[in-house]
Amino acid sequence: MIVVTGATGRLGSQIVQRLLERIPADQVAVSVRDLDRAAELSTRGVRVRRGDFADPGSLASAFEGAEQVLVVSVDRLGEEAVRQHQSAIDAAYRAGARRVFYTSHQAANPDSVFAPARDHAATEAYLAASGRPFTALRDGFHAATVPNLLGQALETGELVAPADGPVSWTTHADLAEAAAVVLTDASRPDDDHLTLTAAEAVDLHGVADLLSELTGRTIRRVVVDDDDYVAAQVGRGVPEHAARLFLTMFHAARQGEFAVTDPALQTLLGRAPQPIRSTLQAATAQ
Ligand SMILES: NC(=O)c1ccc[n+]([C@@H]2O[C@H](COP(=O)([O-])OP(=O)(O)OC[C@H]3O[C@@H](n4cnc5c(N)ncnc54)[C@H](OP(=O)(O)O)[C@@H]3O)[C@@H](O)[C@H]2O)c1
Repeated sequence: MIVVTGATGRLGSQIVQRLLERIPADQVAVSVRDLDRAAELSTRGVRVRRGDFADPGSLASAFEGAEQVLVVSVDRLGEEAVRQHQSAIDAAYRAGARRVFYTSHQAANPDSVFAPARDHAATEAYLAASGRPFTALRDGFHAATVPNLLGQALETGELVAPADGPVSWTTHADLAEAAAVVLTDASRPDDDHLTLTAAEAVDLHGVADLLSELTGRTIRRVVVDDDDYVAAQVGRGVPEHAARLFLTMFHAARQGEFAVTDPALQTLLGRAPQPIRSTLQAATAQ
């Protein structure tokens, strides 16, 4: 049995859908915080159990009978996130899982200037220290983030943001399909780490060019000073700590932390991963 956590989230839900195309529903189980939100999976024959990483006692029954557990990283930061991941990993091995999979990040590194990348590195280190089989899926930066970076670009013709760098933006759909392949294809080698990224890394200048092409209007990339960016965000009601955290994404991109591209995703999918153009096409069609 394959147990997937975060199955009511954006990535986890797509992973479960892709799994159900590959294996019978009675071989799939989900561990979710809210059973009602997974009711549809239950009707399809998926075993649905309540599991909350913040309540480790809930995980024994949620993971019962697991041969493999995919731990989808939580939407929290710092010690809280790492502690929750550790609880999930411990519970998975305790339940008898022969391998734990974890959705890490392409930039996982204890020295990253991007806080989530440090949390992923800490979780990976915990997996490695367990001495048990694990696979960290180092997911490319979610392409779904890009529309949030555009600001008023489509209205004003100016894509205003701090200095950035190339990012191998990767879609949830591709990451979900790849995870389902990794979980179900027994003929694959057992990798400790798999970096799953789109084939190209594009900076915001490239995004502006693509937007220009897609809309037939000129969209110009305008670089703003970091402090001016934070002030503008705060002026829009964003808490300053959140604006500063978001700024570290630009800092990391500037340093090339998200520039890696890896052929593993294409190999797993048997086709080219979706380019950022497809995400922008959807964003401009709305
Ligand atoms: N690679 C990247 O660029 C990138 C970007 C952003 C985020 N991420 C990471 O990737 C993860 C998945 O992305 P996503 O788009 O699917 O995010 P999402 O839709 O926010 O999903 C996060 C999932 O984590 C679950 N979760 C949160 N706290 C939990 C807990 N205490 N116990 C068990 N489950 C818990 C949530 O459960 P509920 O459904 O009950 O809320 C949700 O299903 C994120 O959580 C984040 O760690 C990666």
